[in-house]
Amino acid sequence: MMLKILLFVGLLQAALFAQDDVVCKKCHATIYHEFYDSMHRKSSPKEDKVHQATWDLHPLKSKDDYTCAQCHTPNTQESNKVGDPISCTACHAIASIEEHPTANQNIYTDKPKTFFSATTNAERQIVKFQQSKDWLGLSKSTEGSPYHTIDYTNDLYSSGKVCMGCHSHRQNGHGFELCRTPMEGAKEGTKNCITCHMPQVKGSATSITQTPTHAYHGFAGVYNDPKLLAQYVDIKLERTQNGFDLFIINHAPHDLMLHPLRVVELQATLLTQNGSKKLPSYSFVRIIGKDGKPAMPWLATEVVKDTMIKANETRKVAFDEAVQSGDTVEVKLGFYPVDPKAAKNLNLESERSLTKFTILKKIELTIE
Ligand code: HEC
Ligand code: HEC
Ligand code: HEC
Ligand code: HEC
Ligand code: HEC
Repeated sequence: MMLKILLFVGLLQAALFAQDDVVCKKCHATIYHEFYDSMHRKSSPKEDKVHQATWDLHPLKSKDDYTCAQCHTPNTQESNKVGDPISCTACHAIASIEEHPTANQNIYTDKPKTFFSATTNAERQIVKFQQSKDWLGLSKSTEGSPYHTIDYTNDLYSSGKVCMGCHSHRQNGHGFELCRTPMEGAKEGTKNCITCHMPQVKGSATSITQTPTHAYHGFAGVYNDPKLLAQYVDIKLERTQNGFDLFIINHAPHDLMLHPLRVVELQATLLTQNGSKKLPSYSFVRIIGKDGKPAMPWLATEVVKDTMIKANETRKVAFDEAVQSGDTVEVKLGFYPVDPKAAKNLNLESERSLTKFTILKKIELTIE
C-alpha cells in the first residue's frame, strides 16, 4: 500500500514537471514549437537513442547512478536519477554557474516563477506584471508577464555564458577531458553561441506583446537545421601545379564538430566535358581511446587521433588531379552524426538516420 502511494506521488511530481513547458506554450507558442523539435527537448535516454545506447553500456547503469542527469535531465528531484529532458526552466532559471575541472554546474534560482533573460533596454531590470488603466477603467497597456517575473539583471544571459554550465567541458573518471567548447565563443560580441545557434527569426516571442522577431529556440546543430549554420563555413578552390587545393574555412570559435562520435567528411566530384569523376573523400575526426585504440568514453585516457577542423581554422586539402580551365568541382562538406564504426559497438547500425551522411554545405567551384 505504502509503495503504491509513493509511486503515485512520484508520478504526480513527474507530471507537474512535464507540464512546465506546456504552461509556457500558452503565451510562447512559436518558441515552444521550435523548442519541441530541438535536441534539448530530446536530451533524455527515453528521447535520444544515441544517449540511451551509450548509457545502456555504461558501467554506472547497473548501480542506477545516472551522473548524466546534471546536463541531460537537469530537472530531476533526486540527483543522479533519470528524469525528464531539458525544459524551458533548465535554462531560464540558471542563477549562476560554478566552475569545476570535471564539469561546470548550473546553480538554479529558488525564486518561484522568476525567469532570467537578456534585453538591450537598460531601464528594464526586474519586470513584474503591470496593467495601467485609463479613466474609464479599461485596460490601456500591459507590461511584463501575467504568469511570471522577468529578471534582466543576470549578466549570463547577455552572451553565450549561460550555455557554459553544460557545454564548456567534461572529464571522465580518469581525469581525461572528453570534450571542450572554448569560452571565446561564449563572450559578448558580434558572434557568440546565441547569435549563431539562436538567431533572430520571424514571429512574435509572446502572444501578448507582439514582437517582429524572436530568438530561434530550435538550436541549430547536428540533428536540427544544420543548413542554418552553413554560412559559418566557407569553401575555396585554388589551382595548383598538380591539380587543385580545397580550403575549408571554419568561422566557428570551436572545433567544427564537438562530440567524439561525429565524423566530418569532404566529398568532391570533378565535372568535365567528358563526364563526372568522383575524387577520393577525406574524413576529419577526434577519436578518444586507450593504449592507442578507440575506447568508450568512460575508459578513454587519451586522444588517439585528431584531424578535426579546429576553431577558426583554414584547412587545406590537396587534390592530385589533372584539371582544365572551365572544369568544375562539386564539393560536399558534411558529417555522420554517429561514426558508422562506433554505431556497431553501440548496437545502432540499423538506425539509418544516425549513420547517414548529412550535408552541411554544397557548392560548385569553377577551375580558372
Ligand atoms: C557537463 C554536462 C554533461 C554531462 C554530465 C553529460 N553530458 Fe552528454 N552531452 C552534453 C552536451 C552539452 C552534449 C551536446 C554536445 C554536442 O552535441 O557536441 C552531449 C551529448 C551527448 C551525446 C551525443 C548525443 C547525440 O544524440 O548524438 C551522448 C551519447 C552523451 N552526451 C552521453 C552522455 C552520457 C552517457 C553521460 C553520463 C554518463 C553524459 N552524456 C553526461 C553534456 C553533458
Ligand atoms: C500568461 C502568459 C505567459 C505564460 C504562461 C508564460 N509567459 Fe513568459 N512572457 C509572457 C509575456 C507577455 C512576456 C513579455 C513581457 C514583456 O516583455 O514585458 C514574457 C516574457 C518571457 C521571457 C523574457 C523575454 C524577454 O523579453 O527577453 C522569458 C524568458 C519567458 N517569458 C519565459 C517563460 C517560461 C519559461 C514560461 C513557462 C514556464 C513562460 N514564460 C510562461 C507571458 C507568459
Ligand atoms: C542544462 C544543460 C544545457 C544548457 C544550459 C544548454 N545546453 Fe545545449 N545541449 C545540452 C545537451 C545535454 C545536449 C545534447 C542533447 C542530446 O543530443 O541528447 C545539447 C545539445 C545542443 C546542441 C546540438 C543540437 C543538435 O541538433 O545537434 C546545440 C547547438 C546546443 N546544445 C546549443 C546550446 C546553446 C546555444 C545554449 C545556450 C543558449 C545551450 N545549448 C545550453 C545541454 C545544455
Ligand atoms: C560563428 C558561429 C558559431 C558560434 C559563435 C558558435 N557556434 Fe556552435 N556551431 C557552429 C557551426 C558552423 C557548427 C557545425 C555545424 C553543425 O553542427 O551543423 C556548430 C556546431 C555546434 C554543436 C554541435 C556539434 C556536435 O558535435 O554535436 C554544438 C553543441 C555547438 N555548436 C555549441 C556551441 C556553443 C555552446 C557555442 C558558444 C560557446 C557555439 N556553439 C558558438 C557555429 C557556431
Ligand atoms: C538551452 C537554453 C534555453 C532553453 C531550453 C530555452 N531558452 Fe528561451 N532563451 C534562451 C536564451 C539564451 C535567450 C536569450 C536570447 C537572446 O539574447 O536573444 C532566450 C530567450 C527567450 C525569450 C525571449 C525571446 C526574444 O527573442 O525576445 C523567450 C520568451 C523565451 N526564451 C522563452 C522560452 C520558452 C517558453 C522555452 C521553452 C519552450 C525556452 N525559452 C527554452 C535560452 C533557452
